[in-house]
Amino acid sequence: MDSGKQLTGTLALAVFTAALGSLQYGYSLGVINAPQKVIETHYGHSLGVWTERAAVALHNSTDREAPEAGKHPAVVMYWSLSVAIFSIGGMLSSFLVGFIGDLRGRVKGMLMINFLAVVAGLLMGLCKLWKPHIMVISGRAVMGFYCGLTSGLVPMYIGEIAPKAYRGALGTLHQLAIVVGILISQVLGLDFVLGNDAMWPLLLGLSGAPAILQTLLLPLCPESPRYLYIVLRKEQEARNSLYRLKGAYDATADIEEMRREKEEADKKAKISILSLICSPVYRRQLTVALMLHLAQQFSGINGIFYYSTSIFALAGVAQPVYATIGVGVINTVFTLVSVALVDRAGRRTLILAGLTGMCCCAVTMTVGLKFQNVYAWMSYVSMSSIFLFVSFFEIGPGPIPWFLVAELFSQGPRPAAIALAGCCNWTSNFIIGMTFPYIQALLDVYVFVLFAVLLLCFIVFTYFRVPETKGKSIEEIAAVFQKGKNNLEEAPEDDTELEQLKMSTDA
Ligand code: GLC
Repeated sequence: MDSGKQLTGTLALAVFTAALGSLQYGYSLGVINAPQKVIETHYGHSLGVWTERAAVALHNSTDREAPEAGKHPAVVMYWSLSVAIFSIGGMLSSFLVGFIGDLRGRVKGMLMINFLAVVAGLLMGLCKLWKPHIMVISGRAVMGFYCGLTSGLVPMYIGEIAPKAYRGALGTLHQLAIVVGILISQVLGLDFVLGNDAMWPLLLGLSGAPAILQTLLLPLCPESPRYLYIVLRKEQEARNSLYRLKGAYDATADIEEMRREKEEADKKAKISILSLICSPVYRRQLTVALMLHLAQQFSGINGIFYYSTSIFALAGVAQPVYATIGVGVINTVFTLVSVALVDRAGRRTLILAGLTGMCCCAVTMTVGLKFQNVYAWMSYVSMSSIFLFVSFFEIGPGPIPWFLVAELFSQGPRPAAIALAGCCNWTSNFIIGMTFPYIQALLDVYVFVLFAVLLLCFIVFTYFRVPETKGKSIEEIAAVFQKGKNNLEEAPEDDTELEQLKMSTDA
């Protein structure tokens, strides 16, 4: 076996360490849901606006869509801000991913930003020392800012160090860590664990903990060879990094591939976010990258994640919070399935299968919700549809967009592309988070019809526009887009054809 294809201990350590940043992102995404009532009570007390009426309104409410009547407007406002500011932080910082990644390298970049996570964790963990609402909102803002960076830097680093044959599986570990983070936060958020009056600051503060472990481990991780060779022009250091990551092997082919990528990068001016948007050369790749992130978010997945408790209540579940944890478990299991499948079945196939499955589930979910009052067994239809919807999401549309962007672009435009895709993801996540309760109120049991229609559009787009990238070098992928083909099954298989193609595109 070619030792360059082996998974070494150092590679495993590097991927694990990077994925701690994704774990933190998932934890922060999930942690704010369960303890809402407890936190609102504290806000009310510290603002001096807590009343018996508010307590009753809060007690009767089921989730974030809960009737706000009775709650003091200041409590509602500070709570909404605590939730939303996280995404705003992420939207802003996702633009800086390229800058941070190129400043001192991927590893040092991840190391530097960890202080943000620790500060955020401390602000939230110690919030009872001062005004809790101000402390939590500041902590969530800083944490969102950190997560916007980490959600770009982690896939960038993993995409650059992963051997071609395992790029999909290792790239999917970013999403696996996110879903494990969500699950941990759901379990810790139960009221008899940390989601109670006494412990909730610790629950929020723990979101900074993985950063401490990551800070200890990052110095042991090799810098991305692509960064060393292409950005810093340090061939020997890039070789050493390759040997550390892949073991003792003949690195000629890898160095050669990077040399070609560097040549291509040298020919062009540094690609900024603005020039990437304006450049016709990368338009097709960029459209694919952005559309897949839009598909990930506008599939409606976070409608389930943010509001699952109320959706389960609507579906007639007696203990919705446990059903929500069930969603977290299914979510994790199917991300593992994706890790196993993605380098065999391919990205395009899994995205198409996932989106199609989700579209069908959105329809059956609607039928179930509509008729469950007439036929009791229909609530099983809506329940199973929710679980299957999440499973299909994790098979492809969830994990793949995160790492596909790093595969679609060569070194020059990669940081800018990841920044743009990240911003698109965070912005659409924010839009869904803010509007879902209103859409739900408007469409009632038909809420997922809207997502079924959107999913159908994304299926059509993926079918016609998204190429297969499995097992291809970055250069081969770029060549397919330049040649104007949609399907990488037709991509050049041998170097001669690739050379001819390069010459024709250079000409
Ligand atoms: C993806 C999405 C995120 C979602 C999560 C659910 O990472 O980006 O918004 O909450 O999947 O597993």
